[in-house]
Amino acid sequence: MLRHPRRLASRLGALFVLAVLGLVVRAKWIIERSYADVPQPKIVADTSPAGVTRGEMLFQSLCMECHGGPDGRATGKHLDEVPSFLGTFHSANLAHPTEGVRRRTDGELARVLRTGVLPDGRLSVAMNGFGKLGDADVAALLGYMRSGAPAFEPAGRTQPRTKLSLLGTLIVTYVSKVGVDRPSSGVEVPRKAPTVEYGRYMVQAMDCVGCHTDGFGSEKMNDPKAFAGGFELTDPTGKPIYTKNLTPDDATGIGRWSRDDFERAVTRGVTPDGFLVRRPMPLFSRLDRTDMDAIYMYLRTVPAVNQPNRPGGHRLEKPKSNDPPEVLFVSVGCAGCHGESGPHRDKILPAVGKSDAELASWILDPQATRPGSVMPSFQGTLDRAQAESLGRYVRDLAKQRGG
Ligand code: HEC
Ligand code: HEC
Ligand code: HEC
Repeated sequence: MLRHPRRLASRLGALFVLAVLGLVVRAKWIIERSYADVPQPKIVADTSPAGVTRGEMLFQSLCMECHGGPDGRATGKHLDEVPSFLGTFHSANLAHPTEGVRRRTDGELARVLRTGVLPDGRLSVAMNGFGKLGDADVAALLGYMRSGAPAFEPAGRTQPRTKLSLLGTLIVTYVSKVGVDRPSSGVEVPRKAPTVEYGRYMVQAMDCVGCHTDGFGSEKMNDPKAFAGGFELTDPTGKPIYTKNLTPDDATGIGRWSRDDFERAVTRGVTPDGFLVRRPMPLFSRLDRTDMDAIYMYLRTVPAVNQPNRPGGHRLEKPKSNDPPEVLFVSVGCAGCHGESGPHRDKILPAVGKSDAELASWILDPQATRPGSVMPSFQGTLDRAQAESLGRYVRDLAKQRGG
């Protein structure tokens, strides 16, 4: 053997290439094979008023961020917040006249939510993360999707299929370890109350833990750096954005935040020092006081991790007083929602016909006009004069868009 070191090296090289090829083939098989035999949960839509209300809260908090089209319906779109090295993701049009949720059975939809297995048996990586939703919450989501809500009025086209890159395929197979091995029913939702137990359920159901913990592992609740942030996502302008440290560390986490500071950041999108919490952080404006009490209580119990938030455009500059409105529109984040490809492009149309004062009041505190609005409050970011100049700018933009 030693007389032929070259031959040995080339054999080892060939073995290595074979091993890598094997891993690739296995990953492709896991992602691309049919899962049509995975049983459908025996969960039935909860169409009671309480069920539909809970389902609406869950859908608006968890699903619209990905499935909401430009007209506010669940018509799906290209998911630009997913870094492109993972692949190209398109969410499904849930309002499609022939392929939308109205044509799917409860069992088919419940299986998508519990395991990520689509009605046609393909595995959806994007839908694989809702396995922690309890049976009652899955039933509530189905109830809302079947309630005739405007978001599901038949509309839109079929979305292109998601394409994972090779690296994306390897990451979801070997690092995230996607799997469909979940109980098909019997997953409890703890009683809704200001308790650590309900908070622990909610941070998993709302996937705070998935975004606010770095890495692609599937058991992030047990990660020693759970909730310490630093996970990279892409903001609406295409730049990297990092999630924040939510552990009770005084220096780098939210240890010094009061419960009300926390509620304001999560439900209204403004931090205690007056900065915007930007997309892709969903604005959880539908979470109520009990939800917020419980989530805050739970986050106080996780180990404090001293990990400074990563720089990289994660804090917004306070706007300068002489910035023109078209600059403010982008710099304070309006464009992320109302820009040409934003999820709420046409929601500014009602601005036509409103006075400067009305528009400024709306921009400074939308929830004062419409409780539950998912538009963040800009009080503390903008002064009244800036809000009025933005109001005029947005009204002109709305006219151009045919409002
Ligand atoms: C991270 C983005 C994302 C989120 C959040 C998300 N979805 Fe999806 N969803 C997708 C993508 C992408 C697809 C299309 C399948 C694919 O390409 O993986 C999809 C497909 C589906 C389908 C299958 C449609 C069909 O009949 O083929 C259903 C049902 C669905 N989603 C419901 C929901 C519900 C309900 C929620 C909230 C609990 C939700 N989704 C949240 C990205 C998302
Ligand atoms: C889709 C990913 C995603 C999910 C899910 C998510 N967040 Fe975030 N969160 C972010 C990002 C990104 C930021 C940083 C935003 C910025 O820099 O403007 C953030 C910022 C925050 C902040 C502001 C912290 C600070 O120091 O400025 C709080 C508080 C927060 N999130 C709480 C939560 C809670 C509670 C949940 C679950 C109910 C949650 N997040 C779910 C992505 C997410
Ligand atoms: C997180 C997404 C988001 C951001 C950021 C955002 N908006 Fe909105 N905006 C909405 C939504 C959603 C609506 C529709 C009303 C609702 O759902 O409550 C809306 C409605 C409006 C309206 C119409 C109000 C009416 O009378 O119906 C105006 C005007 C407006 N936004 C201006 C702005 C301006 C200016 C900015 C930046 C300073 C901004 N928005 C930032 C989501 C957003």
